[in-house]
Amino acid sequence: MILPIFGYGYPVLRKVADDIEDDFENLPKLVEDMFETMYAADGVGLAGPQVGKSLRIFVVDTIQSMEKGEEDKGIKKAFINAKITAETGKAWDYEEGCLSIPSIRGDVTRKPQIRITYFDENWKKYDEIYEGLNARVIQHEYDHIEGKLFVDYLKPIKKRMVKRKLEKVRQGLIEVDYKIKFNTKR
Ligand code: NI
Repeated sequence: MILPIFGYGYPVLRKVADDIEDDFENLPKLVEDMFETMYAADGVGLAGPQVGKSLRIFVVDTIQSMEKGEEDKGIKKAFINAKITAETGKAWDYEEGCLSIPSIRGDVTRKPQIRITYFDENWKKYDEIYEGLNARVIQHEYDHIEGKLFVDYLKPIKKRMVKRKLEKVRQGLIEVDYKIKFNTKR
């Protein structure tokens, strides 16, 4: 089932999300719906707050984003109650975008390697290291469950440049070709 994506301006995107309890009903179904929603919007990642749920869950699929012949370096995974325990290496810039903030993209500086603990949708626990694009997408989604958005990290000059456009997005005045809703009442 495709869920509506919550656009920039919804308070849920700014909340630190709650852990999911291990008796949460039908977690695999939520994961399935989140993947379906992400694919329908051509995304590589999607987090709980983006579908209006203030829960520590996100899904990632970087397989299609890898260079030809390197698809096996991509990952397709759900991350439940994730905790990034380390970020290392020399920070690098990469242009990010977000399904909740359509039409805006910008360089974000992040470290290239992370260590992360999390559960999958069957409550199997992992402690893993990721790097490059995989780490990048995970860091972006992880920020969502911490109530942070990539536009927070834009350099001051770029921030000024997108300010007006961001306000248009918030008001839902941007054309979007996937299911999204905006918090238009003030
Ligand atoms: Ni995002």
